[in-house]
Amino acid sequence: MTDSTPPRKRLLIRTWGCQMNVYDSARMADVLAPLGYAPTEQVEEADMVILNTCHIREKATEKVFSDLGRLRDVKREKGGDMVIAVAGCVAQAEGAEITARAPWVDIVLGPQSYHRLPEMVARASRAAGAVIETDFPAEDKFDHLPETAAPQGVTAFLTVQEGCDKFCSFCVVPYTRGSEYSRPAAAIVAEAERLVALGAREITLLGQNVNAWHGEGPDGRAWTLGRLARRLAEIPRLARIRYTTSHPRDMDDDLVAAHRDTSALMPFLHLPVQSGSDSILKMMNRGHTADDYRRLVDRLRAARPDLALSTDIIAGHPGESDADHAETLALIRDIGFAQSFSFKYSARPGTPAATMAGPVDEALKDARLAEIQALLRDQQAAFNRSRAGMVAQVLVTGPGRHPGQMAGRTPWLNPVHFDGPDSLTGQVVPVRITAGHPNSLSGVLPMPDDATTRERPAA
Ligand code: SAH
Ligand code: SF4
Ligand code: F3S
Repeated sequence: MTDSTPPRKRLLIRTWGCQMNVYDSARMADVLAPLGYAPTEQVEEADMVILNTCHIREKATEKVFSDLGRLRDVKREKGGDMVIAVAGCVAQAEGAEITARAPWVDIVLGPQSYHRLPEMVARASRAAGAVIETDFPAEDKFDHLPETAAPQGVTAFLTVQEGCDKFCSFCVVPYTRGSEYSRPAAAIVAEAERLVALGAREITLLGQNVNAWHGEGPDGRAWTLGRLARRLAEIPRLARIRYTTSHPRDMDDDLVAAHRDTSALMPFLHLPVQSGSDSILKMMNRGHTADDYRRLVDRLRAARPDLALSTDIIAGHPGESDADHAETLALIRDIGFAQSFSFKYSARPGTPAATMAGPVDEALKDARLAEIQALLRDQQAAFNRSRAGMVAQVLVTGPGRHPGQMAGRTPWLNPVHFDGPDSLTGQVVPVRITAGHPNSLSGVLPMPDDATTRERPAA
């Protein structure tokens, strides 16, 4: 250890919410590494704990405060020798409210301030009270965050777009993440190349409205996401590209075409629809009808026939009638989703939906959600069963749960388990799917003379 090496400290980051929070947590670890912070899973040995929080539903927010309650006891046992920071969307939304409820919190910082974390840690060690940063800073955090040096898994996330201008009536994201911002293409390409050099074979481009991305291209013109995907597909050894989350309104022709002509773009798309009722979609301010969504899916499937779809559904938005609910079930039946996330509507303070007429009774929300989830579960199980007998191109992510077993994912994002050597990690290999389970697939490596190992263009 040289004199300039900072003392080794331990950092624990707990992450809730969406994939962007997962990406952000990695960036916060990167920014704190030069200060000597190395990761730990043990709260007792942590010198600093960051809670990277989610505000999307009431339950998500409440989890943060119950976790903070437990952390107070740990901090007390350590004689106060622990820095506690609250980051993410609850930090942005609640700000000083957090330290009022939990005065043992040292730092509160919103998602746009992560590059300021080292300076905030220094300030927190001097300050008597908490250090709070929830303004949207003038400088671009992406210009101030260090490049990651951490080894990557086979799959990596890369934020290309942040924020949202859509203002769906039920949603807090435009308030917690601010207005839409697209990173320039050159910065994204450089980061993707770096991730690949560090071991990534699949990159998922992230944005709250990722398909609204319109960053400056190297030619000085505004690029679209389709154009960006084509450029990223040229990176040697980058086998797979995904992007999430998309808004139906921003699915332009070029992006649809990219699904046809860019084989690295995986045939799987998370495309939240929220409801199948036009009147509810209108109240939600989604800006499209149920039939617009059906037609969009037709266009996507025409471009890429093996495309599998995933969605988000909200049960019990204010004003939702039995007939509206039936239309949601009808839309789900019409499309056939391979995966999904569905939620009970949760009223969020400050959003227009929270004060709308006709709140739906809690028990009715439960019943509708149960019906929606039963249908979506059946569709997922049917999709997984339909993979049995196929030979799928599987990106091997690492060892499976049992000795000799490997895990990977199909182009359609299904987890797959099969017996094989460790040396396959990071490779895309053909796997014959033997069974489709509710949440995963089983497979075997085909014998060398197996005629079915011929590559299918689909995978
Ligand atoms: N940007 C994405 C989704 C962001 S939030 C999009 O536009 O679709 C992820 C999901 O949480 C949403 O798709 C929605 O289904 C759900 N969600 C958001 N606010 C909610 C609320 N108030 N109650 C219940 N579910 C909500
Ligand atoms: Fe929320 Fe709607 Fe923006 Fe998605 S598009 S983040 S649901 S406001
Ligand atoms: Fe949650 Fe914020 Fe993501 S509210 S879903 S962590 S953008």
